[in-house]
Amino acid sequence: MSRLLRAAACLAALLPLYAQPPIAPPKPPAFRRPPAFPERPPADPASLERGKAVYGVHCTFCHGVDARGGSGGPNLIRTSLVLNDKNGELIGPVIREGREGMPKFDLTPTQISDIAAFIHNFKVGGYDVSRMTPPSIVTGDPTAGAAYFAKTCSGCHSNLNGIASRITDPKQLQQTWLMPGSGGGRGGGAGARVSPTTVTVTTATAKVNGRLVRIDDFFVSLIDAEGTPITFTRSGDVPKVELQDPLIGHRKLLSTYSDTDIHNLTAFLVTLK
Ligand code: HEC
Ligand code: HEC
Repeated sequence: MSRLLRAAACLAALLPLYAQPPIAPPKPPAFRRPPAFPERPPADPASLERGKAVYGVHCTFCHGVDARGGSGGPNLIRTSLVLNDKNGELIGPVIREGREGMPKFDLTPTQISDIAAFIHNFKVGGYDVSRMTPPSIVTGDPTAGAAYFAKTCSGCHSNLNGIASRITDPKQLQQTWLMPGSGGGRGGGAGARVSPTTVTVTTATAKVNGRLVRIDDFFVSLIDAEGTPITFTRSGDVPKVELQDPLIGHRKLLSTYSDTDIHNLTAFLVTLK
Protein backbone atom coordinates (compact mmCIF):
# COMPACT_ATOMS: atom_id res chain seq x y z
CA MET A 1 0.00 0.00 0.00
CA SER A 2 1.40 3.40 -0.80
CA ARG A 3 1.88 5.81 2.03
CA LEU A 4 -0.89 7.98 0.69
CA LEU A 5 -3.31 5.12 0.50
CA ARG A 6 -2.43 3.99 4.00
CA ALA A 7 -3.03 7.45 5.32
CA ALA A 8 -6.34 7.59 3.52
CA ALA A 9 -7.32 4.23 5.01
CA CYS A 10 -6.44 5.47 8.46
CA LEU A 11 -8.51 8.55 7.98
CA ALA A 12 -11.42 6.50 6.74
CA ALA A 13 -11.19 4.34 9.84
CA LEU A 14 -11.26 7.40 12.01
CA LEU A 15 -14.09 9.13 10.27
CA PRO A 16 -16.95 7.23 11.88
CA LEU A 17 -15.70 8.45 15.21
CA TYR A 18 -16.24 12.01 14.16
CA ALA A 19 -19.51 11.14 12.52
CA GLN A 20 -21.00 10.00 15.81
CA PRO A 21 -23.50 12.38 17.31
CA PRO A 22 -21.91 14.66 19.85
CA ILE A 23 -22.14 13.50 23.42
CA ALA A 24 -24.99 15.21 25.18
CA PRO A 25 -23.77 17.96 27.50
CA PRO A 26 -23.81 16.83 31.12
CA LYS A 27 -26.95 17.70 32.99
CA PRO A 28 -26.44 20.65 35.30
CA PRO A 29 -25.89 19.26 38.78
CA ALA A 30 -28.59 19.69 41.34
CA PHE A 31 -28.36 23.14 42.88
CA ARG A 32 -25.39 23.39 45.19
CA ARG A 33 -24.33 26.55 46.89
CA PRO A 34 -21.25 27.66 45.02
CA PRO A 35 -18.23 28.26 47.19
CA ALA A 36 -17.74 31.96 47.78
CA PHE A 37 -14.33 31.67 46.20
CA PRO A 38 -12.86 28.77 44.30
CA GLU A 39 -10.60 26.55 46.31
CA ARG A 40 -7.12 26.29 44.92
CA PRO A 41 -5.22 23.04 44.65
CA PRO A 42 -2.72 22.71 47.49
CA ALA A 43 0.66 24.23 46.72
CA ASP A 44 3.98 22.46 46.74
CA PRO A 45 5.08 22.60 50.41
CA ALA A 46 8.66 23.57 49.53
CA SER A 47 7.44 26.49 47.44
CA LEU A 48 5.13 27.54 50.28
CA GLU A 49 7.98 27.48 52.78
CA ARG A 50 10.19 29.58 50.52
CA GLY A 51 7.30 31.93 49.77
CA LYS A 52 6.61 32.38 53.46
CA ALA A 53 10.23 33.37 54.06
CA VAL A 54 10.46 35.84 51.17
CA TYR A 55 7.06 37.28 51.99
CA GLY A 56 8.11 37.58 55.62
CA VAL A 57 11.14 39.64 54.75
CA HIS A 58 9.64 41.96 52.16
CA CYS A 59 5.88 42.10 52.54
CA THR A 60 4.79 41.30 56.11
CA PHE A 61 5.15 44.75 57.52
CA CYS A 62 2.81 46.40 55.06
CA HIS A 63 0.45 43.53 54.28
CA GLY A 64 0.45 41.66 57.60
CA VAL A 65 1.76 38.19 58.49
CA ASP A 66 -1.47 36.70 57.18
CA ALA A 67 -1.73 39.00 54.12
CA ARG A 68 -4.83 40.58 55.63
CA GLY A 69 -3.33 44.01 55.77
CA GLY A 70 -0.81 45.67 58.00
CA SER A 71 0.87 48.99 58.49
CA GLY A 72 0.35 50.80 55.25
CA GLY A 73 -0.67 47.96 52.94
CA PRO A 74 -4.12 46.67 52.07
CA ASN A 75 -5.56 43.24 52.74
CA LEU A 76 -4.43 41.15 49.78
CA ILE A 77 -6.62 38.10 50.19
CA ARG A 78 -9.76 39.29 48.51
CA THR A 79 -8.58 41.82 45.98
CA SER A 80 -9.65 40.83 42.49
CA LEU A 81 -6.07 41.00 41.30
CA VAL A 82 -4.99 38.38 43.81
CA LEU A 83 -8.10 36.28 43.30
CA ASN A 84 -7.50 36.19 39.57
CA ASP A 85 -3.81 35.45 39.88
CA LYS A 86 -2.78 31.85 39.44
CA ASN A 87 0.94 31.61 39.77
CA GLY A 88 2.26 35.12 40.20
CA GLU A 89 1.52 36.33 36.68
CA LEU A 90 -0.60 39.23 38.01
CA ILE A 91 1.08 39.68 41.38
CA GLY A 92 4.53 39.68 39.76
CA PRO A 93 4.20 42.98 37.87
CA VAL A 94 3.01 44.72 41.06
CA ILE A 95 6.04 43.37 42.94
CA ARG A 96 8.48 44.29 40.20
CA GLU A 97 7.06 47.72 39.39
CA GLY A 98 5.75 48.80 42.78
CA ARG A 99 2.71 50.93 43.42
CA GLU A 100 1.96 54.21 45.06
CA GLY A 101 2.99 53.50 48.65
CA MET A 102 4.72 50.26 47.72
CA PRO A 103 8.35 50.02 46.68
CA LYS A 104 9.38 47.79 43.82
CA PHE A 105 11.27 44.60 44.54
CA ASP A 106 13.90 42.95 42.45
CA LEU A 107 12.82 39.35 42.94
CA THR A 108 13.32 36.33 40.71
CA PRO A 109 10.40 34.64 38.90
CA THR A 110 10.71 31.70 41.31
CA GLN A 111 10.58 33.99 44.34
CA ILE A 112 7.50 35.64 42.87
CA SER A 113 5.67 32.39 42.23
CA ASP A 114 6.66 31.23 45.74
CA ILE A 115 5.18 34.42 47.22
CA ALA A 116 2.07 33.91 45.12
CA ALA A 117 1.76 30.35 46.42
CA PHE A 118 2.10 31.63 49.96
CA ILE A 119 -0.55 34.34 49.54
CA HIS A 120 -2.92 31.92 47.80
CA ASN A 121 -2.49 29.45 50.62
CA PHE A 122 -4.70 31.54 52.91
CA LYS A 123 -8.32 30.48 52.92
CA VAL A 124 -10.44 32.96 51.08
CA GLY A 125 -13.80 31.33 51.52
CA GLY A 126 -15.50 30.27 54.69
CA TYR A 127 -15.14 32.44 57.67
CA ASP A 128 -12.92 35.42 57.55
CA VAL A 129 -10.07 34.68 59.91
CA SER A 130 -9.40 38.36 60.39
CA ARG A 131 -12.83 38.79 61.98
CA MET A 132 -12.27 35.77 64.19
CA THR A 133 -8.99 36.89 65.67
CA PRO A 134 -9.16 36.67 69.41
CA PRO A 135 -9.20 40.02 71.19
CA SER A 136 -5.66 39.31 72.33
CA ILE A 137 -2.73 37.83 70.49
CA VAL A 138 -1.17 37.00 73.83
CA THR A 139 -1.94 33.30 73.83
CA GLY A 140 1.50 31.76 74.32
CA ASP A 141 3.43 30.45 77.28
CA PRO A 142 5.61 33.19 78.85
CA THR A 143 8.00 30.70 80.49
CA ALA A 144 8.68 28.95 77.21
CA GLY A 145 9.01 32.42 75.68
CA ALA A 146 11.64 33.40 78.25
CA ALA A 147 13.61 30.25 77.45
CA TYR A 148 13.37 30.96 73.74
CA PHE A 149 14.55 34.51 74.32
CA ALA A 150 17.56 33.27 76.30
CA LYS A 151 18.47 30.87 73.52
CA THR A 152 17.80 33.04 70.47
CA CYS A 153 17.86 36.71 71.37
CA SER A 154 20.02 37.23 74.41
CA GLY A 155 23.24 37.03 72.41
CA CYS A 156 22.41 40.50 71.10
CA HIS A 157 19.96 41.79 73.72
CA SER A 158 21.00 41.07 77.28
CA ASN A 159 17.43 42.02 78.11
CA LEU A 160 14.57 44.10 76.78
CA ASN A 161 13.35 45.27 80.15
CA GLY A 162 10.80 48.06 79.90
CA ILE A 163 9.92 47.35 76.28
CA ALA A 164 6.31 46.51 77.17
CA SER A 165 5.90 49.87 78.91
CA ARG A 166 7.23 51.69 75.89
CA ILE A 167 5.24 49.65 73.36
CA THR A 168 2.01 48.82 75.09
CA ASP A 169 0.05 47.28 72.22
CA PRO A 170 1.03 43.56 72.08
CA LYS A 171 0.48 43.40 68.34
CA GLN A 172 2.79 46.33 67.75
CA LEU A 173 5.29 44.88 70.17
CA GLN A 174 5.28 41.63 68.23
CA GLN A 175 5.76 43.46 64.94
CA THR A 176 8.66 45.33 66.47
CA TRP A 177 10.84 42.27 66.70
CA LEU A 178 9.31 40.21 63.90
CA MET A 179 10.12 42.91 61.42
CA PRO A 180 11.86 45.78 63.16
CA GLY A 181 12.91 48.67 61.00
CA SER A 182 10.27 47.95 58.38
CA GLY A 183 8.13 50.85 59.46
CA GLY A 184 8.05 52.40 56.01
CA GLY A 185 10.30 55.22 57.18
CA ARG A 186 8.71 55.38 60.58
CA GLY A 187 11.46 53.45 62.28
CA GLY A 188 9.88 50.10 62.97
CA GLY A 189 6.48 50.89 64.39
CA ALA A 190 5.54 53.17 67.19
CA GLY A 191 8.07 53.26 69.96
CA ALA A 192 10.71 51.03 68.42
CA ARG A 193 14.27 52.29 68.50
CA VAL A 194 16.01 51.05 65.43
CA SER A 195 18.92 52.62 63.64
CA PRO A 196 18.46 53.04 59.90
CA THR A 197 20.40 51.06 57.34
CA THR A 198 23.43 53.00 56.21
CA VAL A 199 25.42 52.70 53.05
CA THR A 200 28.97 53.48 52.01
CA VAL A 201 29.59 54.29 48.36
CA THR A 202 33.18 54.32 47.14
CA THR A 203 33.81 55.93 43.76
CA ALA A 204 37.17 56.47 42.03
CA THR A 205 37.42 59.86 43.72
CA ALA A 206 35.40 59.77 46.91
CA LYS A 207 33.93 57.70 49.70
CA VAL A 208 30.46 58.79 50.79
CA ASN A 209 28.51 57.46 53.74
CA GLY A 210 24.93 58.08 54.78
CA ARG A 211 21.47 56.81 55.48
CA LEU A 212 20.16 54.56 52.74
CA VAL A 213 17.11 55.96 50.95
CA ARG A 214 16.79 53.37 48.20
CA ILE A 215 18.82 50.97 46.17
CA ASP A 216 18.25 48.93 43.04
CA ASP A 217 20.42 47.61 40.21
CA PHE A 218 20.78 51.03 38.64
CA PHE A 219 20.79 53.62 41.42
CA VAL A 220 21.69 54.03 45.03
CA SER A 221 20.40 57.06 46.96
CA LEU A 222 21.49 58.20 50.38
CA ILE A 223 21.30 61.19 52.66
CA ASP A 224 24.69 62.22 53.96
CA ALA A 225 25.57 63.58 57.39
CA GLU A 226 24.75 67.15 56.32
CA GLY A 227 21.29 66.06 55.21
CA THR A 228 22.10 66.33 51.51
CA PRO A 229 20.45 63.72 49.28
CA ILE A 230 22.90 62.11 46.84
CA THR A 231 22.18 59.59 44.11
CA PHE A 232 24.78 57.49 42.28
CA THR A 233 24.17 55.49 39.14
CA ARG A 234 25.29 51.90 39.41
CA SER A 235 26.71 49.58 36.83
CA GLY A 236 27.62 46.18 38.16
CA ASP A 237 30.14 46.61 40.96
CA VAL A 238 30.88 50.24 40.13
CA PRO A 239 30.85 52.19 42.33
CA LYS A 240 31.45 49.89 45.28
CA VAL A 241 28.38 49.82 47.55
CA GLU A 242 28.44 48.46 51.09
CA LEU A 243 25.26 48.25 53.13
CA GLN A 244 25.27 48.26 56.89
CA ASP A 245 21.92 46.89 57.96
CA PRO A 246 21.65 46.92 61.75
CA LEU A 247 18.83 44.42 61.51
CA ILE A 248 20.50 41.81 59.40
CA GLY A 249 20.36 39.49 62.42
CA HIS A 250 16.59 39.91 62.61
CA ARG A 251 16.08 39.33 58.93
CA LYS A 252 17.97 36.06 59.21
CA LEU A 253 15.88 34.96 62.18
CA LEU A 254 12.60 35.67 60.47
CA SER A 255 12.37 32.39 58.60
CA THR A 256 13.28 30.35 61.68
CA TYR A 257 10.39 31.22 64.00
CA SER A 258 7.55 28.77 64.34
CA ASP A 259 4.09 30.09 65.20
CA THR A 260 4.53 28.66 68.70
CA ASP A 261 7.84 30.50 69.16
CA ILE A 262 6.16 33.74 68.10
CA HIS A 263 3.24 33.32 70.50
CA ASN A 264 5.49 32.31 73.38
CA LEU A 265 7.91 35.16 72.82
CA THR A 266 5.12 37.70 72.67
CA ALA A 267 3.61 36.28 75.86
CA PHE A 268 7.03 36.74 77.50
CA LEU A 269 7.77 40.21 76.13
CA VAL A 270 4.45 41.70 77.30
CA THR A 271 5.57 40.90 80.87
CA LEU A 272 8.65 43.16 80.50
CA LYS A 273 7.00 46.28 81.87
C1 HEC B 1 5.88 49.86 52.24
C2 HEC B 1 4.68 49.10 52.25
C3 HEC B 1 4.52 47.93 51.28
C4 HEC B 1 5.36 46.85 51.11
C5 HEC B 1 6.68 46.60 51.80
C6 HEC B 1 4.70 45.98 50.16
N1 HEC B 1 3.51 46.53 49.76
FE1 HEC B 1 2.22 45.71 48.45
N2 HEC B 1 1.07 47.37 48.54
C7 HEC B 1 1.28 48.45 49.37
C8 HEC B 1 0.28 49.46 49.13
C9 HEC B 1 0.14 50.79 49.84
C10 HEC B 1 -0.56 48.93 48.10
C11 HEC B 1 -1.79 49.59 47.50
C12 HEC B 1 -1.31 50.43 46.33
C13 HEC B 1 -2.46 50.92 45.51
O1 HEC B 1 -3.44 51.35 46.10
O2 HEC B 1 -2.33 50.81 44.31
C14 HEC B 1 -0.03 47.63 47.75
C15 HEC B 1 -0.58 46.80 46.79
C16 HEC B 1 -0.17 45.51 46.56
C17 HEC B 1 -0.80 44.60 45.63
C18 HEC B 1 -1.96 44.93 44.72
C19 HEC B 1 -3.28 44.67 45.35
C20 HEC B 1 -4.36 45.02 44.36
O3 HEC B 1 -5.30 44.25 44.27
O4 HEC B 1 -4.27 46.05 43.69
C21 HEC B 1 -0.13 43.42 45.70
C22 HEC B 1 -0.44 42.15 44.93
C23 HEC B 1 0.92 43.60 46.66
N3 HEC B 1 0.88 44.88 47.16
C24 HEC B 1 1.82 42.63 47.01
C25 HEC B 1 2.97 42.87 47.76
C26 HEC B 1 4.01 41.90 47.95
C27 HEC B 1 3.97 40.47 47.43
C28 HEC B 1 4.97 42.51 48.70
C29 HEC B 1 6.32 41.93 49.11
C30 HEC B 1 7.18 41.53 48.02
C31 HEC B 1 4.51 43.84 48.99
N4 HEC B 1 3.31 44.03 48.39
C32 HEC B 1 5.22 44.77 49.77
C33 HEC B 1 2.30 48.58 50.29
C34 HEC B 1 3.37 47.72 50.41
C1 HEC C 1 22.21 39.37 65.70
C2 HEC C 1 21.80 40.26 66.75
C3 HEC C 1 20.33 40.25 67.14
C4 HEC C 1 19.55 39.17 67.49
C5 HEC C 1 19.93 37.70 67.51
C6 HEC C 1 18.27 39.72 67.86
N1 HEC C 1 18.29 41.07 67.75
FE1 HEC C 1 16.77 42.32 68.22
N2 HEC C 1 17.82 43.89 67.51
C7 HEC C 1 19.12 43.83 67.08
C8 HEC C 1 19.53 45.14 66.64
C9 HEC C 1 20.88 45.51 66.08
C10 HEC C 1 18.42 45.99 66.82
C11 HEC C 1 18.29 47.45 66.46
C12 HEC C 1 18.93 48.26 67.51
C13 HEC C 1 19.36 49.55 66.91
O1 HEC C 1 19.15 49.79 65.74
O2 HEC C 1 19.95 50.32 67.64
C14 HEC C 1 17.36 45.19 67.38
C15 HEC C 1 16.12 45.66 67.75
C16 HEC C 1 15.17 44.93 68.44
C17 HEC C 1 13.95 45.46 69.00
C18 HEC C 1 13.52 46.90 69.00
C19 HEC C 1 14.26 47.48 70.16
C20 HEC C 1 13.71 48.73 70.70
O3 HEC C 1 14.24 49.13 71.74
O4 HEC C 1 12.79 49.31 70.16
C21 HEC C 1 13.30 44.41 69.60
C22 HEC C 1 11.98 44.45 70.35
C23 HEC C 1 14.10 43.23 69.40
N3 HEC C 1 15.23 43.59 68.70
C24 HEC C 1 13.77 41.97 69.84
C25 HEC C 1 14.49 40.83 69.55
C26 HEC C 1 14.03 39.49 69.85
C27 HEC C 1 12.73 39.15 70.54
C28 HEC C 1 14.99 38.64 69.41
C29 HEC C 1 15.00 37.13 69.42
C30 HEC C 1 13.93 36.49 68.72
C31 HEC C 1 16.05 39.46 68.83
N4 HEC C 1 15.71 40.76 68.94
C32 HEC C 1 17.21 38.94 68.30
C33 HEC C 1 19.93 42.74 67.04
C34 HEC C 1 19.52 41.44 67.31
